[in-house]
Amino acid sequence: MELDPWQIGDITDYEQLFKFGISPMAAFKEMYSDNRYVRRGMIFGHRGFEKIDTAIQSKRPFIMMTGLMPSGKFHFGHKMVADEIIWFQRKGARTYIAAADIESYLMRAVSLKDARNIAIEEYLTNYIALGLDPKKTTFWFQSDYKPEYYRLADVAANEVTFNEMRAIYGDITPNKIISALKQVADILHPQLPDFEGRLPTIVPVGADQDPHIRLTRDIASRLNHIYKMELPSATFHRFMEGLRGGKMSSSNPKSYIALSEDPKTARKKLMSATTGGRETAEEQKRMGGLPDVCAVYKFYYYHLVDDDKEMQKLYGECKSGSILCGACKQRCADMLEKFLVEHQKKMGKAKEAAKKLAESR
Ligand code: TRP
Ligand code: SF4
Repeated sequence: MELDPWQIGDITDYEQLFKFGISPMAAFKEMYSDNRYVRRGMIFGHRGFEKIDTAIQSKRPFIMMTGLMPSGKFHFGHKMVADEIIWFQRKGARTYIAAADIESYLMRAVSLKDARNIAIEEYLTNYIALGLDPKKTTFWFQSDYKPEYYRLADVAANEVTFNEMRAIYGDITPNKIISALKQVADILHPQLPDFEGRLPTIVPVGADQDPHIRLTRDIASRLNHIYKMELPSATFHRFMEGLRGGKMSSSNPKSYIALSEDPKTARKKLMSATTGGRETAEEQKRMGGLPDVCAVYKFYYYHLVDDDKEMQKLYGECKSGSILCGACKQRCADMLEKFLVEHQKKMGKAKEAAKKLAESR
């Protein structure tokens, strides 16, 4: 299986990634059970998380760095990364966030102007509404940042061959090369002397980003003759399934619910999602539903229900057929609507802070 960070498609077999050097996150489940995604296995893998664990346990400084590609609405799939960012920030990470406007221009044909607006109005506003502390965050656009950052991207080009890039990315083209080297600089520049200096760095990402992580780790080790750097660490999460199966993707509005979605529209979308229900009510009462393949269940599991006991109860009710999909969806839609109404109030308040953060470099 080849991972392509620019492909829209879904990853079907996460277990297989362990064969390619991603380690299971299971070892850290107990220690970080306060993180719902770690506890429930959505964050399933990592590279080099031991360093971050040590930093957190010994209260030593570390960097959290990740990026967003502004290309559409901020939806519940994106919320995972936001929650991870905020979680690491609260664990004491020095927080760095890149808006990959060059990448969305090169790979998704989004203009820099549109990318800028999407990054601020969709991503940053939501991050702050979800709990990001903008005062403790360094934020930049790939198209508009400090010279040291660009110098690092250029110098990094000298540390990798075309064949290596082809081995990592498959079909490699100039726009992919530029995007990849920007991402390398995104991840490594906080360790430059002008920024934080050498520090463990955690990069929370979706599993499709592993090629970039591998490239960045290779380059970091080879840059040693110029800069002393820690190899960056990463955590990998699964994609949240969309409303009709497959990946939740901003390129398909039927697959997602945006956090800025009108709550009534969101309700309707959820009510028409694919469930793990049976053909008839009689059958479902007799055989029970299939929560593991149900898009409604994913909303509870990923976002709406934090309490594991309550989650177990929901699972049991579905499995035993004691609740039918109609009632279950209504209950989920109620929770969703309540969440969105409250969240959108916070978004209203976060708008100004988001603009300010975008102008802060
Ligand atoms: N390529 C990432 C995406 O598609 C966005 C990104 C840009 C990024 N720079 C980064 C992610 C640095 C992690 C670290 O979403
Ligand atoms: Fe999904 Fe709920 Fe139906 Fe179970 S009862 S399949 S969780 S909608």
